[in-house]
Amino acid sequence: MQIIDGKQLATTIKEEIAREVQQIKTQGGKIPHLAAVIIGDDPASHVYVRNKVLSCEKVGFESTLIKRGAETSEEELLQIVDQLNNDDNIDGFIVQLPLPKHINEEKVTLAIDPRKDVDGFHPVNFGRMAQGLPCYLPATPFGIIQMLDRYNIDVEGKECVVLGRSNIVGTPASILLSRKARPGNATVTLCHSRTKNLPEHTRRADILVVALGMPEFVTGNMVKEGAVVIDVGTNRVEDATAKRGYRLKGDVKFDEVAPKCSYITPVPGGVGPMTVTSLIMNTLRAARKEVYA
Ligand code: GUN
Repeated sequence: MQIIDGKQLATTIKEEIAREVQQIKTQGGKIPHLAAVIIGDDPASHVYVRNKVLSCEKVGFESTLIKRGAETSEEELLQIVDQLNNDDNIDGFIVQLPLPKHINEEKVTLAIDPRKDVDGFHPVNFGRMAQGLPCYLPATPFGIIQMLDRYNIDVEGKECVVLGRSNIVGTPASILLSRKARPGNATVTLCHSRTKNLPEHTRRADILVVALGMPEFVTGNMVKEGAVVIDVGTNRVEDATAKRGYRLKGDVKFDEVAPKCSYITPVPGGVGPMTVTSLIMNTLRAARKEVYA
C-alpha cells in the first residue's frame, strides 16, 4: 500500500509554479493576480480562503482578499462580482461557498465572467469541460486528476466508481475520468443517495473516489483488494482531546481500508492541499490567457 502524499505533491507543484512566476517577472510579464471573496463568518471557509491567499503569495502571485459580513446583501455581492469582472488587474477570482442563506449562489455563480472563473463553477466552464474544450477545471476534480497523473496510476479502461454527485466534485470528477484524455478513458459509475446495493458497486471499483461528506462511511468490506482510493471528505468531528476541539476525518475508514489498497489518499494531507494548487494553476492559465484568448 502506498500513500498518495497530496501535501508533498502540492509543495512540488507550487515550487514549479513559483519558478514560472520568476520567469514571468524576469521577462516583465503580468504577475498573476487572484481575488477571493468571502461573505460571513463560517470558520472552515475562512481557513480555506486564508490558505488559498497565502499559497498565492508563496508562489509570487498577487492576491486580494475581500471580506464582508454575513449581513451583506445579494445586490452588494453582485456589485463586487461586477467590479472584479471589469478589473483588468484581476486575472481570476473566486466567491467562497457556501454563501449566507439569503444570497442565491446560482445567481452569483452565473454573474462571474467565465474568463475569470478560476473555480470552474460557471456552467460555461462546466459545459466546456464536459465537451473536452479548453476550460478551467474545478479545483477538487483537477487535483484528483493531477494526483493520478503524477503517481502514474493507470486509469484507462479501469472500473472507476465515484460516490457523490455534487456539482463541484462528484459529477465533474465522473466526467473527467470518463473523458477521452489522459488521465481518463475509465469506465465510470456515479453512485449517490438513491443508489441500490452500494457495496456491490464499490467492491467492483479499481479506482474509488469518495465525495460524500459522511465521516468514515466507506468501510473495509466495501473495497476491493488492490483498489486505488481517493478520499475527498474533510469532515470536522468533535474530539475533546484534540487541540482545536475537533479532528478532520475523511469519508473513508482509513485504518480498515488502507491495508487493502494499492494507493490511498490520507485525510488530512491528501486531496485537500491539491485543490489549492489547482486554483493556482487555473490563475496562472488565466493570467496567460491560455483558456480564453
Ligand atoms: N467551498 C468548498 N469548496 C470550494 C471551492 O473549491 N471554491 C469555492 N469558491 N467555494 C468552495
